[in-house]
Amino acid sequence: MSNRQWLLAARPETYPQPEHFQLVAGDRPALEPGKALVKTLFLGVAPVMLRYMRNETEFQAPLAIGDLMMGRGVAQVIASDCPELPVGSIVQARLGWQEYALIDTRQDPPPFLLAHHDLPYSHGLSSLGPSGFTALIGLREIGAVQPADHILVSGAAGGVGSQVSQIAKALGARKGVGIAGGPEKCRRLISAVGYAEALDYKQGNINTALDQLFSQGIDLYFDNVGGALLDEVLSRLRRRARIVICGAISEYLLPREAQHRFANLQNLGRQDARMEGFFVFDYGQHYPDYASEIADWIRAGQVSPVEDISRGIETLPLALSDLYTGSNVGVRMVHVADPDPMP
Ligand SMILES: NC(=O)c1ccc[n+]([C@@H]2O[C@H](COP(=O)([O-])OP(=O)(O)OC[C@H]3O[C@@H](n4cnc5c(N)ncnc54)[C@H](OP(=O)(O)O)[C@@H]3O)[C@@H](O)[C@H]2O)c1
Repeated sequence: MSNRQWLLAARPETYPQPEHFQLVAGDRPALEPGKALVKTLFLGVAPVMLRYMRNETEFQAPLAIGDLMMGRGVAQVIASDCPELPVGSIVQARLGWQEYALIDTRQDPPPFLLAHHDLPYSHGLSSLGPSGFTALIGLREIGAVQPADHILVSGAAGGVGSQVSQIAKALGARKGVGIAGGPEKCRRLISAVGYAEALDYKQGNINTALDQLFSQGIDLYFDNVGGALLDEVLSRLRRRARIVICGAISEYLLPREAQHRFANLQNLGRQDARMEGFFVFDYGQHYPDYASEIADWIRAGQVSPVEDISRGIETLPLALSDLYTGSNVGVRMVHVADPDPMP
């Protein structure tokens, strides 16, 4: 049986596009001792993949031209010599961009069993997976969200951002203000994503809008984009404000010399404020607890995962491009196959 795989064909100068990948068909791998053979159901894309493609990360093995593209997904265990990954279970794991994969528990973080079978498996890449966990960790562990906080979120219509306002509310806070690009995205921020107000950073003067909406200042800023906008927020902090540095997608394509130079950092000291980054993979031991907590919110109607799904492994390169052209609303992922019926 064949196993289609996407390989890295070229390193992108700008954002990832289909010509940077090559689709090949190999053989489905045979089960090996201590491993599990899994069938890919969904594959996710993430901004960090551009950095894998350019070999700019320290936390993953170098990716050579011709290597299998790295990526996480949701899969069904179809054969196993690994007691922790029994046949029939559904896992969230590092699979690579391919239809079948051999996995084991030595991955860091290790494969994570999806326990909430009453909910769609795609949620294993959204609210019950890294982007939901990122929103929860950022808000609670890093941002110490409080009920009275005036919350601002950048990249609010994206995978992580689409969950921040909903999870903040589930944690007892008020609805946040979201920033996204374009009127349609901003409309959806309010109608479908759970924000109270939406700001379009591509139109009008966002600084004036921030002054109006946050006349008393910002308590909690969940930042997905970095750059000049972060500097504007730094100048509008309330006392004891918290800035959660989740990501900086506006700067990923810029050479170091073109990246924003901050003018308002001293305001952190003046306002007894705090700015802190984090990495979701450092919290792997808490994933089962996070998943159960968020699953309960979904069942209670407090969190509605926003997913942007295309069908077919062929659509993966375009899915990744979408993150950089801003074409996604919610967690961008690809449906690869349905699970096999299990006896
Ligand atoms: N700390 C962690 O452990 C962790 C984990 C996961 C993700 N992250 C980070 O979290 C952020 C969101 O990740 P995600 O996976 O949810 O992706 P995402 O938000 O779905 O990323 C795509 C969105 O980013 C926005 N964008 C793209 N280029 C931009 C630019 N130049 N300026 C401003 N916005 C731009 C676009 O929205 P608009 O059309 O609205 O511009 C696009 O739809 C990223 O920075 C990512 O690196 C961090």
